[in-house]
Amino acid sequence: MEFVQVMVWTLCVISSAASGDGCSLILKPPRVVVGFGQPVSVSCEAARPVRVLGWESAVSAAHTQQGPSVQWKVDSLIDWIDEPICYGVFFTTPRQCEEKLNLVLYKSPDSVTIRTVNHSGPMQEGKEYQLLCEVQNVAPVQYLNLRWYRGPTQVYNRSFSDLTSASPVQVSSVLVITPTKADNGARYSCVAELELGPEGPQPPLAVTSQTLRASVHFPPVFQSPGAESVDLTDGGEVTLNCSAAGNPEPAYSWWAPQALQELREEGHAVLASSSLLPGTYTCTASNTLGKKSKHFTVRAKEV
Ligand SMILES: *[C@@H]1O[C@H](CO)[C@@H](O)[C@H](O)[C@H]1NC(C)=O
Ligand SMILES: *[C@@H]1O[C@H](CO)[C@@H](O)[C@H](O)[C@H]1NC(C)=O
Ligand SMILES: *[C@@H]1O[C@H](CO)[C@@H](O)[C@H](O)[C@H]1NC(C)=O
Repeated sequence: MEFVQVMVWTLCVISSAASGDGCSLILKPPRVVVGFGQPVSVSCEAARPVRVLGWESAVSAAHTQQGPSVQWKVDSLIDWIDEPICYGVFFTTPRQCEEKLNLVLYKSPDSVTIRTVNHSGPMQEGKEYQLLCEVQNVAPVQYLNLRWYRGPTQVYNRSFSDLTSASPVQVSSVLVITPTKADNGARYSCVAELELGPEGPQPPLAVTSQTLRASVHFPPVFQSPGAESVDLTDGGEVTLNCSAAGNPEPAYSWWAPQALQELREEGHAVLASSSLLPGTYTCTASNTLGKKSKHFTVRAKEV
């Protein structure tokens, strides 16, 4: 007898079954967000006398005779099923109706990784590069938001609401960058965030990639370009600072109007001495991408 009634209902659903406000079926709660492997239970209640009340689902179907409520319950949800439907067969019209449960089964990504596409090692200033963020095994992808960061600043975000798969998928996002010397040392990362709504985990579940530290090659540049003048003081030490930014790290060479002990040790950016003579000192900072010179005029102490 029970079996027959369920069959009747199934046939009627194909023709026409009411749902929504006139349905008299109330799901508690109406929306569930459940993590992969977690338990779930939802009750379906009929607001008017019912002949049969039941759940149709690929896992854990159930029904009752004339009962006011029936529960859909799974101890550990691990199947990427269609949303379960609660149906009712009533004594009065509308005789059949159904209510679909808003069920979101989610799974946090196995991994979130970031890398450069078709490139390894330092980048060159002004050239275009692609950074790729890959997210493995995440569901449901429609709720995923992928955010790109440069240091603490969000530079790009991408959602996947156009995709429909309910089961876990792999997705990726590409960030195109044209690095300048300011990007040397910049740390890029991406964050995969599942925004599942108020029924989901709070704060939203987020997995962050490792950090990709950009190394950008550029020729030496002086922070204060041009020539510098320095006055000699009474027995005081004079410091000539030729430090330049550059990647690879610049090497330095000095030209002085006198022989200096300090200059025998090659390669220092700073020349500090208490025995400098007046004159013009020249420093050259160089790396594999170029060289720049800077002149220092050391002036005699005014008498
Ligand atoms: C990466 O290199 C492969 C093989 O050299 C090429 O087929 C592919 O189009 C390249 N991808 C990009 C994004 O440049
Ligand atoms: C994502 O980026 C768009 C611009 O592309 C921006 O308008 C939006 O606020 C960003 N969303 C979030 C959540 O940061
Ligand atoms: C030389 O100049 C650089 C850059 O302006 C600065 O970081 C460094 O501290 C200076 N060194 C000395 C010894 O003054």
